[in-house]
Amino acid sequence: MKVLLRIRRFDPAQPDLPAWATYDLELDPHSTLLDALHRIKAEQDSTVSFRRSCGMGICGSDAMQVNGRNRLACKVLMYTLGPVVTVEPLKGLAPLRDLVVDLDPFFANLKAVKPWLINDNPPPARERLQSPEERERYDDTTKCILCAACTTACPPFWNDPSFVGPAAIVNAHQYIYDSRDEGTAERMAALTGPKGIFRCRVVFNCTECCPRDIKITDAIEQLKRDALKGAP
Ligand code: SF4
Ligand code: FES
Repeated sequence: MKVLLRIRRFDPAQPDLPAWATYDLELDPHSTLLDALHRIKAEQDSTVSFRRSCGMGICGSDAMQVNGRNRLACKVLMYTLGPVVTVEPLKGLAPLRDLVVDLDPFFANLKAVKPWLINDNPPPARERLQSPEERERYDDTTKCILCAACTTACPPFWNDPSFVGPAAIVNAHQYIYDSRDEGTAERMAALTGPKGIFRCRVVFNCTECCPRDIKITDAIEQLKRDALKGAP
């Protein structure tokens, strides 16, 4: 298939660089968008910059806006996109170069909700046991690969990047509903403050774009309800 790929360009060292570059490609329709970007870099323009690592939807490196929607480039097949494809960096984070954005604020927000197991009790001889029912409570939110697609699709985050955003909330959810964890009080203190869950306006952009199909809005609403009840 023939495709015209439009890529948003940015290079702080070249202020006169045109904002858009276009590339004509002939591709197998089952190529991924990441394949297409590699082809452009190898054959037409080695300066085009983007992040990628695993190439198979695991590492979360290559989230970008594709025809107006946040996607992982390695999970999008070209035949699903049509003859003209527009690729832009994620919104709400500062562009560093072309499709590469500054993820430091994203990871700072994540760190604020302490996404690790908190339990200072001495561990048992073998392991901290958990029933299948207890594990099921947070199964969905364990699937996050920290791609940032959700947070950078969120209008309240665009408006104020101090909002921790859906990805941080998803990762907090995972530990708050883990029966082995004892950090709920400190995480809920962060999540119910001015930068937390009540900034969510239930837009559903996060849920629609999550490449892991995590029910993000459900997780946020569960946390809101439990915060109001005082009992997660
Ligand atoms: Fe990406 Fe989904 Fe995790 Fe958000 S919740 S960072 S969209 S995997
Ligand atoms: Fe790892 Fe796409 S390159 S998720």
